[in-house]
Amino acid sequence: MINRYTIIGQPVAQSVSPAIHHMFGELTQRRLQYTRTEATSDSFAAIVKDWQSSGGKGCNITAPFKELAVTICDRLSENARLAGAVNTIQMHRDGSLVGHNTDGIGLLTDIEKNKQLPIKGLRVLMVGAGGAARGAIGPLLSARPACVHIANRTIERAEKLANTFASLGPVAYSSFDDLSSVESFDLVINATSMGFDNSAPPLPVNILHTETFAYDMMYKAQQTPFLTWCEQNGVTHFSDGFGMLVEQAADAYLIWEGVRPKTRKVYLATDEIISSANV
Ligand code: ATR
Repeated sequence: MINRYTIIGQPVAQSVSPAIHHMFGELTQRRLQYTRTEATSDSFAAIVKDWQSSGGKGCNITAPFKELAVTICDRLSENARLAGAVNTIQMHRDGSLVGHNTDGIGLLTDIEKNKQLPIKGLRVLMVGAGGAARGAIGPLLSARPACVHIANRTIERAEKLANTFASLGPVAYSSFDDLSSVESFDLVINATSMGFDNSAPPLPVNILHTETFAYDMMYKAQQTPFLTWCEQNGVTHFSDGFGMLVEQAADAYLIWEGVRPKTRKVYLATDEIISSANV
């Protein structure tokens, strides 16, 4: 029997998830099929239900449906509840849908294990306060940083996020401008949706020090504008979000298939994976 999965988004042609999951299937010797499915806000719920009734075992959800996916799930994992977003749906035979969020834990695994940067005690700057930031803050706080400072263009969104997570650890917030009067950060993470248009968030250079690690949750074939800005301002340790993508996929695979594939071999095929999609 072939286990069937799909990624649902708009657009999805750029998704490298099929290539990653097919590789996981080979690595764990499971037969599976993983496709891309386009949806609209109006068709999304019906598409998920159709996928389940046609025998699908699960699906991934990408932009812009992660928040909408919360509303169609029967149960949510703690990470999905805190994130207010679902990126992985587990489909049960009794017809129920369980929503998970593996994005934040994927980010944490990539930074701590792959990049070998323990977050404990670090001053972390989260740039952006949208869905991507919200998914990451809970898992980041679980790694016990000295603080997570959220900076956003719209300060009300940063404040709201800071209040949501205040009980889980030390969280602060500000506008981009107000960052000019704060101490530098050990880890700076871009979680804004800027970058596809070749622009970077307007950050002051004092947020960086010589050992700052810069992480862009976005990935694309060329270096992202945020990482270029960091490099131009003296940062030598940095990464795009490809590793996060692979690690969140491995956690989704674990939920569906009960085994977590070893991700190292997937990194060796990075070029092949990226060329499998319109990135
Ligand atoms: P996602 O799910 O990708 O996080 P989102 O929830 O729409 O998408 O959030 C997008 C993030 O990128 C927000 O932090 C947004 O800032 P605002 O809250 O002020 O809208 C940020 N962002 C997008 N375009 C931006 C721009 N041109 N300048 C600054 N921040 C921008």
